[in-house]
Amino acid sequence: QADSISAALAAAPVVPLVDSGDPDQAVATARALLEGGLAVQEVVLRRPGALDAMRSMAQRRADIGEGLIVGAGTVLTLEQAKAVHKAGAEFIVSPGLLDEIVHYCMDEGLPVFPGTATASEVQRAHALGLRAVKFFPASLAGGVPMLKALSSVFSAMRFMPTGGISAANLHEYLALPGVIACGGSWLTPREVIAAGDYDAVTGLAREAVAIARAARD
Ligand code: 3PG
Repeated sequence: QADSISAALAAAPVVPLVDSGDPDQAVATARALLEGGLAVQEVVLRRPGALDAMRSMAQRRADIGEGLIVGAGTVLTLEQAKAVHKAGAEFIVSPGLLDEIVHYCMDEGLPVFPGTATASEVQRAHALGLRAVKFFPASLAGGVPMLKALSSVFSAMRFMPTGGISAANLHEYLALPGVIACGGSWLTPREVIAAGDYDAVTGLAREAVAIARAARD
């Protein structure tokens, strides 16, 4: 699992958030994002029905399209980690670092990206055996200069900055060698999804892929 996620992120280092409590809407969003070139997608547990939406995406993975990797985000508790794992999540993202979630995921062989915002948190993640973490909330926790400083001391660590990233600043984050991918909600604007404008979602995904290519050239 870790290898297939790394390969997909190497091809397109952007992780869009899917924030929906409606399975059909989540599946349509996933299809639109995949069509635009983003295979690694994170369903956030922020509303009733989000777990069902995630389960549907995972179950209908093959039908949605080749290469789709479905993860769960905003996982706050060990119980939620177990539930999303059972529902088919292929990776887990948390806003912060909770040892029991990390231990559970490592025992289960489930890739996990806990949130970190300080050197102490990154060091703790490193001591727990992790070599990739989320950097959250990226723009408020110091942005690119902070990430540069963290990367220079934690050279073995890979970072997934999230929070305040958009098409306008994506290239700055992706230009840092320690960044494995950037995550964010800018690819799935609420009003666009509510209007059912999935072509626009595909367009945003394509734009992100093009920015990523240019940043990594
Ligand atoms: C996350 O959970 O990763 C963040 O809420 C995403 O932040 P954004 O909405 O600013 O992209």
